[in-house]
Amino acid sequence: MSDKSYGEINQKKDSRRMEASDLVKQMTLEEKAGLCSGEDRWYLKSVERLGVCSIMMCDGPHGLRKEISYQDNLAFSDSVPAVCFPTASALACSFDRDLAYEIGIALGEECQKEGVSVLLGPGVNQKRSPLCGRNFEYFSEDPYVSGEMAAAMISGVQSQGVGTSLKHFAVNNQEKRRMTVSAIVDERALRETYLKAFEIAVKKGKPWTVMCAYNQLNGTYCSENTYLLTDILREEWGYEGVVVSDWGAVNDRVLGLAAGLDIEMPGSNGYNDKKIIEAVRKKTLPEEYLDRTACKVTELILKASDNKKEGFTCDMDTHHQLAIRAATESAVLLKNEDDILPGNPEQKAVVIGALAKEPRYQGAGSSKIHPYQLDMPWEALKEYGTMEYAQGYLANSVGKKDSTKEEALKKEAIRICKGKDIVYFFAGLTEGYESEGFDRETMDLPENQNRLIEAVASINPNIVVILSGGAPTRLPWVSKVKGILVSYLGGEGNGKAIADLLMGKAVPCGKLAETWPLELSDTPAYHNFPGGRTTVEYRESVYVGYRYYEAAQKPVLYPFGHGLSYTTFHYSNLEINQDEYHYGDKLILSFDITNTGSWEAKEVAFVFVAHKNKKVFMPVKELRAFNKISLKPGEKKQIEITLDTHEFAYYNTAIHDWYCDSGEYKIMICSSLTDCHLQKTVNLISPKVKQPDYREKLPSYYSLKNEELVLSDNEFEHLYGQELIPGDLLPTRPYNLDHTLMDVRHTLFGKLFIFIIKKMVKKNSFGSKENYAMMISMVLEMPFHSMVPSGGGIITDQMLEGILDIFNGHRIKGIFKIIRHKRG
Ligand code: BGC
Repeated sequence: MSDKSYGEINQKKDSRRMEASDLVKQMTLEEKAGLCSGEDRWYLKSVERLGVCSIMMCDGPHGLRKEISYQDNLAFSDSVPAVCFPTASALACSFDRDLAYEIGIALGEECQKEGVSVLLGPGVNQKRSPLCGRNFEYFSEDPYVSGEMAAAMISGVQSQGVGTSLKHFAVNNQEKRRMTVSAIVDERALRETYLKAFEIAVKKGKPWTVMCAYNQLNGTYCSENTYLLTDILREEWGYEGVVVSDWGAVNDRVLGLAAGLDIEMPGSNGYNDKKIIEAVRKKTLPEEYLDRTACKVTELILKASDNKKEGFTCDMDTHHQLAIRAATESAVLLKNEDDILPGNPEQKAVVIGALAKEPRYQGAGSSKIHPYQLDMPWEALKEYGTMEYAQGYLANSVGKKDSTKEEALKKEAIRICKGKDIVYFFAGLTEGYESEGFDRETMDLPENQNRLIEAVASINPNIVVILSGGAPTRLPWVSKVKGILVSYLGGEGNGKAIADLLMGKAVPCGKLAETWPLELSDTPAYHNFPGGRTTVEYRESVYVGYRYYEAAQKPVLYPFGHGLSYTTFHYSNLEINQDEYHYGDKLILSFDITNTGSWEAKEVAFVFVAHKNKKVFMPVKELRAFNKISLKPGEKKQIEITLDTHEFAYYNTAIHDWYCDSGEYKIMICSSLTDCHLQKTVNLISPKVKQPDYREKLPSYYSLKNEELVLSDNEFEHLYGQELIPGDLLPTRPYNLDHTLMDVRHTLFGKLFIFIIKKMVKKNSFGSKENYAMMISMVLEMPFHSMVPSGGGIITDQMLEGILDIFNGHRIKGIFKIIRHKRG
């Protein structure tokens, strides 16, 4: 963008800010408080007499979910058709910022078409454990990758005059007890691991809104966490946009407002607005805090209104083609023994697996959209030639044992696989295994699929497994199959993309944006996920993903960055502009990549930086840059990358700032974490400051071993710097507003309440098992304090008090309060 257009944008911003501030000066206290929460689930309130209109926000993140009709309860209704792009865990594997930007543009266009002003996404939470039910919605185990991809997507959406909501800020890395659990994280891990992606996305992408998470961080709800929402987000990172709550994440609204939470979503029917008004009147909340928020929200509304394109239409078919391209560029070829792939139409081929006809291409929960079109892998493969098909297994197998039907399917599959040149086996996590609202319990694929793969492989070794699912799974049969292509949840165009990749019309170029561990017990959070009833301790600190596996020398199934191609690449000629730098200097490096094979293809190159600090524990190396290029057979291209040496820093808790110590830094050019092709060492000179030296107090963090990661209370307590509060104590009377229905489930009234709730949820989940599982876990794990604002006016404070009285054994008093409330 030219300096002139930047100037124009800034001018516009300033004049809009002034206009917002003028409008707010004319607002009543009630109108200002009204702007602090939604009108309903998706709309903000308007102030009509001043021309401040209402704007709409909708999910996101990988497609638009604009509900067709909705009520003020938790039920999901059907949504307008929208193009379903690969979910973040898939798209991250493309390592292609331009692609993320293009998808952002398409998402922005669809929002304009539907009159939506803010798209709720992208999500950049860290993949701490492969079990998090929502990993499919998050990009990577590396915060740099997540931040870069998210920034590109945000810029794309916002280039269309539609805002985004970067979520879920912050440290929301599990679904279990997400509405109450307190993530206990040491300061360094917080900065380097859990906030880094947000920092990059906020600074580069400038999202119009940031969505605060449900959970607590180190004992304070994110929705009222001044350290997060004001000190870091606004003051340190310079964020100028609006902070919106996750849906139902508000605990104490007044505290939240003071901490920097601007909008509560969904609206609480004016319930919390009244509390804000009361607090201003009683002078427990300075009115200037309310004015600050009202200005920000008005500015957001003005910006959205200025950018609205009435009657806008877009070409959905072109977006579908983009979805196919995105899926093609994101799929990762994990294994290709004997060059079994690409296949060719001349081969006698069979397709096995229910997932070839009923593909799993997106996740479940608030991001589940109604696809504009859906490409079926089976149909797309048939376009290439004649193939046989067998269902092989029951897709709907959660919790089910072997059955006669299953046996018959297996027999049929084995029969048709005999004597064939190649078997394309579609496997993966079927519906009900992963969703928002709950975590997976194991890393296993459905057992019926594992059994069938083994059985087929034993009679036909020419088997290629095509895997779908939002996160890594165990692959017990890995050595018995010749090919594995993983598409994660590749969106509505995935079927066509897979067929093209299998048949060699396209060449795989995705690489893993996360490690695939061998076993769950190998993962760093194994002993601390999902934590206890009230807290989850992040004892592994900065050792997340490859940073852990490499430091502990733990063998993995597939390392970060792994991904094969049909062609081969050669790396050469690393040049670095200097040998010595001062902290803060720019380092310019270049190297060549040559396509030494016979296919035109793309390659992702990684730049890792390794440094040994004598005092501070460090991962072996960390990703500092990546780039993707396309090369014709025989072609050689030079890649030039500028690294800011600030980015080599770790978070120094002795000075509460980023810092690099002086010494040697190894610059490594790699095609995956474990394939390093070129390297050079440079010297860095940095001012001397105090560094945290934990060698005596935390020896385990300096010498990770290839065994299950168990870190003692003492060591973690020392690192955390505060006394640890036991997180697994049983809930006891008196129950209070922070307890949940899960906490009272053993009481007579708890049982009765849950029975009624289950019936209501069942009715509202429209027969969808996933919806039911998600909604029930949300309701059972929702703190009582959320029930009033989320209850759409049905539950009042007094009624809740009555309910708590009953749970606390004061039945008559409780019933009396409820009746009195009923009578109004
Ligand atoms: C999810 C958000 C989503 C919101 C609105 C929440 O439950 O955590 O990611 O944007 O609902 O659907």
